[in-house]
Amino acid sequence: DSYSEPLRPQFHFSARKGWLNDPNGMMFDGEKYHLFFQHNPLAPVWGNMTWGHATSPDMVHWTQQDHALLPYRVDRQPGTIFSGTAVVDHNNSLGKQRGDQKTLVAFFTFAGKPKFYQAMAYSTDGGKTWSYWNDGRAVVENQGFDDGERDPKVFWHEPSGKWVMVLWVKQNPGKVRFFTSDDLVHWEHASDLDREWAFECMDLVFLPVDGDKNEMKAVIYDASFDYEVGTFDGREFHTESGPHVAGGGNFYAAQSFNDMPDDRVVQIGWMRGGPNAAEKYGLPFNQQMAFPYELTLRRIGGELRLAGQPIDEIGKLVDQSSVLQNVTLSDGENLLADQPPLDLVDLEIEFVPGTAKDLEIRLAGALLKYDVAGQRLLQRAVDDGGNATEIVVLDNLTPRDGVVKLRFLIDRLSVESFAFDGERFFAAYYAPQDRNAAPSITAQGGEVEVKKLEVRRLKSAWT
Ligand code: FRU
Repeated sequence: DSYSEPLRPQFHFSARKGWLNDPNGMMFDGEKYHLFFQHNPLAPVWGNMTWGHATSPDMVHWTQQDHALLPYRVDRQPGTIFSGTAVVDHNNSLGKQRGDQKTLVAFFTFAGKPKFYQAMAYSTDGGKTWSYWNDGRAVVENQGFDDGERDPKVFWHEPSGKWVMVLWVKQNPGKVRFFTSDDLVHWEHASDLDREWAFECMDLVFLPVDGDKNEMKAVIYDASFDYEVGTFDGREFHTESGPHVAGGGNFYAAQSFNDMPDDRVVQIGWMRGGPNAAEKYGLPFNQQMAFPYELTLRRIGGELRLAGQPIDEIGKLVDQSSVLQNVTLSDGENLLADQPPLDLVDLEIEFVPGTAKDLEIRLAGALLKYDVAGQRLLQRAVDDGGNATEIVVLDNLTPRDGVVKLRFLIDRLSVESFAFDGERFFAAYYAPQDRNAAPSITAQGGEVEVKKLEVRRLKSAWT
């Protein structure tokens, strides 16, 4: 099939061909998950923006569908389709519902010249076909900031019984504008949030503190995943903590699913940057998504912090797994000595750093190193020109009760690293080399006490 290229990501979403950036319009429609994405169908570089479309029963196995939204011309103005979100119109606010089939409503930025505005499209057939509302004219007119206003996030706010739109409208200093609506067509300006850090692709999610549903907090974040924690009353966001930064590396423009079938908040980020995979590796596409992460809010040292971890559905891809416990590794000894080469892997390790200088992990050609004295994780990654470099992935990884806990997802082009159950994470492209090299986990210059190692070999999500 078309996903069998040797360097095609096997459990991360990539476009069949062409360029991909932000995830858009993510929702569960009652039967399946939708992932739309910024897509250039014509070339493996940014441009000609459309909404590509994929659906999935589980957020792990995706099938790319026909394009949902294509550039159009209205009142003689041509424009392309920038980022946005979609909702299930559960109470038929738009009045377009056919029988029992809920209308799906997508909000996007019409990137027209010289001005951008927010427009809407809807689908009455479960997302197969889409119509532009009012021929694609504005539902939210340009706010006076030219092209610096985009990426509408729309969701249903149950306590106030209204639809809410969160719109990034301005850069330097950043401004976020909230709107509310009863019918999804008329939007009333509710409040502004002026924040230096706010830049593109705002999202607002609600999470319990340490799983306690009696203590719900709102979290607002932007494309770089800077975030603030607080409350949202339906019109205004009230900050209690932040800004903080959650993820790093190539992780960008993440968005959460609307209308989840359960209480989880799950998001997907775009892995921005890295080499042009089409140019560098001869692939028909360029760029990929990160794996879906479940977000949680934890009180850590008195502060509320976001954590992101791979969704449990990754278990569907596990082909083989093995667990090792309580092994003291001597200098140079390889913990994976009897393991055949690893290709796609989800690996978790808990260890006491001990006397070693570092713990070196070589998997599927990826190289990761925990630097004991520096209490940080290093990785051999790849820069935008495709050259190998060593980067600091996570720092301040002070052992907890003496133990460091790390997790890695390794696919054909990417490594995602997680520390302490997702309290910190980082997604990076790496140079795929020596895929058939023997895997190793070795202590260098002293001993490391491995408390637990779990190696899950994954199978492709495309088969
Ligand atoms: C973020 C972004 C969005 C915009 C889209 C265009 O990566 O710049 O703000 O809508 O990409 O592709």
